[in-house]
Amino acid sequence: MAWRASARIITTPLRYSPSQQAQPFLRFSQSYSSTELTMKKDWSSEQYLKFNAERTRPARDLLSQVQLHSPRRVVDLGCGPGNSTEVLVERFPEAEVLGVDSSPDMIAKAKSTLPQLEFLLQDLVTYKPTEAVDLFFCNAVLQWLPPVQRISITTTLIQSQPPGGVFAFQVPDNLAEPSHTSMRAVAEREPFAGLLREHQPVRSQIETPQQLYDQLGPYCSSINVWQTRYQHVLDSHEEIAEWVKGTGLRPFVDPLPERERRAFLDQYLGELKAVYPLSSDGKVLFPFPRLFVVAVRK
Ligand SMILES: C[S@@+](CC[C@H](N)C(=O)[O-])C[C@H]1O[C@@H](n2cnc3c(N)ncnc32)[C@H](O)[C@@H]1O
Repeated sequence: MAWRASARIITTPLRYSPSQQAQPFLRFSQSYSSTELTMKKDWSSEQYLKFNAERTRPARDLLSQVQLHSPRRVVDLGCGPGNSTEVLVERFPEAEVLGVDSSPDMIAKAKSTLPQLEFLLQDLVTYKPTEAVDLFFCNAVLQWLPPVQRISITTTLIQSQPPGGVFAFQVPDNLAEPSHTSMRAVAEREPFAGLLREHQPVRSQIETPQQLYDQLGPYCSSINVWQTRYQHVLDSHEEIAEWVKGTGLRPFVDPLPERERRAFLDQYLGELKAVYPLSSDGKVLFPFPRLFVVAVRK
């Protein structure tokens, strides 16, 4: 496939049935595919990009630790609106860069931002590279996959790479943060508990550095793992809610009817105000831990 040969969006049909499409959320008690994680509503590139600079910073920090000089092929797995793809193109202008994502809205936005590149609308579960890839880059994506798929997709793709190829990923490690414990606390109250019971809007805990090191180790000559706790300076508590509305809060509020959705957001904002202090200048620090891995294929 000549990745930069055309300006079209490749739309590989996602493999879910109408009944799955209607299922809004993560059913961790059942066996599920990652397509079930794609939720009832599509991602919103507009909502996601409200914090573009803050969200793209980890992509830059991750890429700064990739020791490749001139990769021929680079794939941005879960490319979103193309913000991480843009970082890749800046660093490797000579490379063939492909973006893959399962969200139609994200792919459309990526395509309009980077019309010279090729983008593939596809779930990572079914994605298979057609040629050897020197760099797989996966920023803020794997946390949306169930653990078993997270590891198997990663190790399968690493094994498809040539020696020296790099698989670099970053995942938020924030389930224990007040932003997330607060959304779970509100979800336990009625009427939300009843409405969300079927949906079980719980993301799985990310593996520990030790588990990742041990699971990727057999395929790699080196694994660089680190954690960073960002302290984002936001204008208000409302901004924290806006931030997570684009990502982690979606499983909790997307399945709710409009009135309950507004009530959930009101109560959630109240929780945020109780747990995140106001700074002396009226702004709010939003701590955000993230886990980074750069694995080199042996
Ligand atoms: C938080 S955004 C990350 C976007 C971008 N990589 C960045 O660095 O900001 C997560 C993206 O992963 C995509 N995604 C989630 N699960 C996916 C899956 N199973 N297959 C493909 N893309 C997926 C979503 O559609 C979304 O665009």
